[in-house]
Amino acid sequence: MADKMPALVELRELDKVFESRKGLFGGSRKMTAVSQVTLDIPRGQVTGVVGESGCGKSTLARLALRLLEATSGRVVFDGVDLRGLSHQEMRRQRRRMQMVFQDPYSSIDPRYRVADALLEPFKVQGLKLSAGAARSKVEALLAMVGLDRKLGESHPHQLSGGQRQRVGIARALALEPDFLVLDEPTASLDVSIQAQIITLLERLKRELGLTYLFISHDLGLVRYFCDRIVVMYLGRIVEILPHPKARPRHPYTQTLLDSTFAPDPTRRREIGQLSGEIPSPFDLPPGCAFAARCTYADARCRSERPRLETSADDHETACFNPNLSPQNRETP
Ligand SMILES: Nc1ncnc2c1ncn2[C@@H]1O[C@H](COP(=O)(O)OP(=O)(O)OP(=O)(O)O)[C@@H](O)[C@H]1O
Ligand code: SF4
Ligand SMILES: [Mg+2]
Repeated sequence: MADKMPALVELRELDKVFESRKGLFGGSRKMTAVSQVTLDIPRGQVTGVVGESGCGKSTLARLALRLLEATSGRVVFDGVDLRGLSHQEMRRQRRRMQMVFQDPYSSIDPRYRVADALLEPFKVQGLKLSAGAARSKVEALLAMVGLDRKLGESHPHQLSGGQRQRVGIARALALEPDFLVLDEPTASLDVSIQAQIITLLERLKRELGLTYLFISHDLGLVRYFCDRIVVMYLGRIVEILPHPKARPRHPYTQTLLDSTFAPDPTRRREIGQLSGEIPSPFDLPPGCAFAARCTYADARCRSERPRLETSADDHETACFNPNLSPQNRETP
């Protein structure tokens, strides 16, 4: 095997605890949205993160970009530990790491023209561009994402969902980053438009040598697009598939996969037909958090928490009873 380059992003034992007020009588309750997440995001690859709504995907994304401060743990970006950086150093570092949201325009002033939105990252960084340089930058960014240069004068409400997402991607690329976090970038788009955006992201990655962290609750999409798949359940990584066709070994991922191939497409987004309650994130059980929904749960699962273990083929699973049967190696 060739020497492994260090990963572009290294997440180490990240925890994020949110505290919320209990109500009139004060006090607070804590919930761990991300727990003990250790993950390498290799250069030039697409690392996918899947899991149900609320399992901590966006929180993890924000921690990876240090848009949110971790309760504990660290993020190392291209060899630099982000924890110790000053505000200014962090701002400089942030040029190299950007995020694309599900609806990138939701956070932008609707009076902004597309051109203003594309130039905003320069303003945030305190970078001044001449009028000519700004115009050519906007045109180059629009061309890069396959949009007509005339759209620079448009306002968000004049664009289709697909065009808006292209603008969101162009905006993320404005400062020539190395790393993009894509947080459900196609979740609100029609399937055909979704495919176009994925094709665009594939081309940009190839042409610009980008590294992606791609977040989705659609395992089918993640299996198509990603090189490696991280599965989260209630704030923890429960499985890492070393390649997209690897057969899941964790019962939760198997359920996710079954729901991906559900014959009725309207059911595909609902994850599994599971019995048992999802435990409250405010009050997690002592053992495996999936035990109440798992057909293979035994006494050990209810008292002890399984750790993420790596097997010889680089497959990581946090389960006492993983499915290792030989016919379970590859999926179609
Ligand atoms: N700022 C916050 N304050 C308190 N709780 C939060 C905050 N942000 C997220 N949470 C909680 O943390 C948990 C994880 O949320 P997160 O948004 O990371 O999930 P997600 O996997 O991205 O979900 P979705 O698929 O719906 O986007 C949720 O229970 C959420 O309510
Ligand atoms: S550890 Fe036990 S309860 Fe948890 S997923 Fe594995 S078999 Fe199921
Ligand atoms: Mg989210």
